This record gives sequence, structure tokens and C-alpha cells, in this order.
Amino acid sequence: MKILSVTSELFPVIKTGGLADVTGSLPKALATLGIATTTLLPGYPVVLRQIGQSGVPLMTFDDLLGKRATLLHARVEDLDLLVLDAPALFDRPGGPYVDEAGNDHPDNWLRFAALSRAAAEIAAGALPGWQPDLVHTHDWQSALTSVYMRDMGCRVPVVLTIHNIAFQGQFGADRLAAIGLPDRLNTTDCLEYFGDISYLKGGLQTADIITTVSPTYAREILTPRFGMGLDGVLNERVMALRGIVNGIDLDIWNPATDPHLPRNYDATSLRRKRENREVLLERFGLDQDEGPVFSAVTRLTWQKGMDMFADAADEVLRQGGKVIVFGKGDHAIEQALRVTAARFPGRMAVHIGYDEPTAHLIHGGSDAIVQPSRFEPCGLTQLYALRYGCVPVVSRTGGLSETIIDANDAAMSARVATGFQFHPVNTDGLRLALRRALDTYADPRQWARLQNQGMKTRFSWERSAEKYAAIYTNLVSRRAAAS
Ligand code: ADP
Ligand code: GLC
Repeated sequence: MKILSVTSELFPVIKTGGLADVTGSLPKALATLGIATTTLLPGYPVVLRQIGQSGVPLMTFDDLLGKRATLLHARVEDLDLLVLDAPALFDRPGGPYVDEAGNDHPDNWLRFAALSRAAAEIAAGALPGWQPDLVHTHDWQSALTSVYMRDMGCRVPVVLTIHNIAFQGQFGADRLAAIGLPDRLNTTDCLEYFGDISYLKGGLQTADIITTVSPTYAREILTPRFGMGLDGVLNERVMALRGIVNGIDLDIWNPATDPHLPRNYDATSLRRKRENREVLLERFGLDQDEGPVFSAVTRLTWQKGMDMFADAADEVLRQGGKVIVFGKGDHAIEQALRVTAARFPGRMAVHIGYDEPTAHLIHGGSDAIVQPSRFEPCGLTQLYALRYGCVPVVSRTGGLSETIIDANDAAMSARVATGFQFHPVNTDGLRLALRRALDTYADPRQWARLQNQGMKTRFSWERSAEKYAAIYTNLVSRRAAAS
């Protein structure tokens, strides 16, 4: 079976968050089930640089929503790629979504419509000699694909995965002509959304199956609190909605082989984490004395609850622990974290940045990873934490609630606990969870038990890839039967 996956980011080529980890690792897991994935992504400068001379031009779009584009074929590691090289849309400084000053690119509505349009044309057979059996789109950036396909009468099945419903691709309806879609699609059962158009809504209305990245989040987004305006649409499409928890790439996130760790270790040699801890504390300019290291590696946004951690971090610091925050995002949250750090010199570090090796080192050298998200579709950081023998302290929401087992008495005595959860999700809840974690840390045997239980948890893609495969197979055979 041949899948066209359409995404705005893909590890190891271009990453701003978990979406890249998922689109980069799911194809490998599907390959073992006989499913071949080809991924279409934009030709950002960083992508073109990485494929270099190896990119083979396959076809040209002379008029892709008014722009010229070339489709390049390339392989990066095990990944089979189609790169949409459209300089007018993608050749510019900044990241995939924002410019160097952190503002959205003003033509994101056109850039990602063009990506989706190219995907739809490929699905419909534009590429000589290759046509997918199914298209898999991810988030609003590729959600228009199934809208274009419906408009073209292309019947190839589509699966749309919601990684984060907070980002919806909402733009003025006056853009419709420029993105090559007819006014008749500007209705409540397609693109229309509170007087605007929403790319994600269009995708939700036209994809055959909608998935999201954990069963809990699949239930949550049916409610007004988490659905962010799209809960009504999702309730109408509830029979097409599935929750499949993300897996992780066990080769890339493996403390026994991780090239970014000064010292490799596994569950039988956890004491070696100490050496990583020394390097970590030195790197972040923190005192080398005893006491647990509680870290966060995250986007610094309201979603991730890092404003709550700015308030509650002193709980750890006053009891002799240390805190490291590494991430990027809202300036107000950065500032709040810095204010707390300034009160505890040598004990709390806030570094603004985004860098893969540092993220790995933090997992290799920390004792606990803090993730107080207000909502979390799946979350990958807590899964990496488990694998690296860090104990996660998380809010009970979305994927966090079903991937971490709270260290309550029953779970401790059954030897299945892996971390600490809190609810309700507020600063006091977080404080209490940090306190519980610190109390447990004071008992080395209990803490080691948590670490070991976490390291035994298996979040490989195996089971989840089978679930995607079952959805694909079902849709493809239904389509074959219908034609
Ligand atoms: P989200 O996609 O919502 O940001 P996830 O937990 O699914 O959350 O994925 C976040 C991914 O981004 C993880 O791979 C994490 O290691 C990575 N990440 C977050 N912040 C940083 C950072 N400052 N530097 C490097 N990687 C980061
Ligand atoms: C989103 C979500 C995160 C999820 C990731 C990958 O960015 O915020 O929870 O893990 O997508 O699916």
C-alpha cells in the first residue's frame, strides 16, 4: 500500500515540535507492516540544503495558486520525500510558520494552501508513474488537501490527524478565489467558520477518517472546553473520529546509544546518569551540590502551563532541588521564569533556545521532567523522560493522563507507577505534585522503583502503527469495493 503523507514538518529535516517527531517516525513503523509512505513537505531553505544535489526534479507546476513550483524527489535516511520547491512561498528566512522576528508569515494562508493543492493534484494522478492509495494529512497546514480533492472529484481516501486543535488556519473568506476554491464550499458543512474560513474545519468535514493523538484527547475535543470552537463539527463526525496514541522512535531516543549524552546508560546502569548530570549542571551554570534536578524542555506557551511552573518552581528550589527550563515562546512567560530564577542564583537556569542535542542532554542528566500542560493532545517529552529514567510530573489531561501512571499507593504497591499527575490543573495542583515528587525522591528505593518502572514502559510505534494500518486498509478496501 502506498501512502502520501502531507506535512509542514518532519524530523530530522525540519522540526518545531512533536508533529515532526511523529511524521518522521511513523513511516518507519508502517514500513515493517508493508506500507510505503512518501512524505510531501515544503521546500524551506533548510530542507533544500539537506537534500542538496540528491533532489531529483519530477515535475513542474507552472501555476500552483499563481506560483511556480518544482516537485523534487529525495531520500533522507529511511524517508522517501517529495519536496515542494516553490521559492516565492518558501525561500525566506525564519521558521516554517514565523519570520525572524517571530511573527507569522503574512501569506501562510497561501503557502499551506499551495502545499495542500499540490498534494491533491498528486493524489489525483499528476505525477507520472506514481499515485497513492491513500492520503494522510496532518493539522491545518495540510487539511485543505481533502477539500481540493473533493472539489476535483478525486476519490482517493484521506485520513486527517489532529495534533493540536488550537491551531486551525482561520483566514478571511475573501481568500477563497486566491486559493482556487469556489464560493460554494464556503458553507457550514465545509469551510465556513464564524464568518471566516477554517482550513482545519474544511479538512474535518471532508476527510474520511479523523484521528487525534490520544484516546483521551479524542474525547476531550468533543467538549467546548477543549474543542476550541470545533467541538460541534467533531460531534457531528464522531463516528469517524479515532484516538491513537503516538509512539516514539526508540533508536533516536535511546539512552544506551544516544550520541548527545556524555555517558550512555540503561536500566541496569542508572547510576551513570550522575556523569550526565554533572555536565548538564555545568552547561547551565548551576551549583554541583546534591538535590534533584527538575527540568522542562518545552515551548513556553500557555498550553504548556509554564507560567504555572514559573510560580511553583520555588517549591523545588526551597527544598534543595534545582530547576532547568529550556525552551522558546511567549516573552511574558520567559520573563516570569527569569524572575523566579533570579531569586535562586546557581539553582535555577532558564535558557531560551531550541536545540536537539541540548534536549537530549537534559533528559540524560535530570531526575524529573515537569510538564504541567493545560491541554496536551499526546505529548512526547514525558515519553522521552520515561525512557531516560526521568520521573515525569504532569497534569492529568490528554495524552499525559494515559501515558503516565500516578504514584498513588495502589500503583506503588502494584509496582506500576511511573510518575506524578495532578488535577485540577492550576498552580497549587502543580505545587502539590512537586511536593509529592520531592518526598518520594527523599526515599531512594522508591524513586529508583519509579525510574525502573518508567524505563520498562514501551512506547514504541508497534501497536499504534498497527492501528493506523488497520484504518488505511479498511478505507482502501472500501474504496476498491466501491469502484
Ligand atoms: P509539542 O509538539 O506540543 O510542542 P510534544 O511533547 O509532542 O509537544 O513535542 C515536543 C518536541 O519538541 C519534543 O521532541 C521535544 O523534545 C522538542 N522540544 C521542545 N522544546 C525544545 C527545545 N527547546 N529544544 C529542542 N527540542 C525541543
Ligand atoms: C502537538 C501536540 C502534542 C503532540 C504532538 C505530536 O504538537 O501539542 O501533544 O504530542 O502534536 O502529535
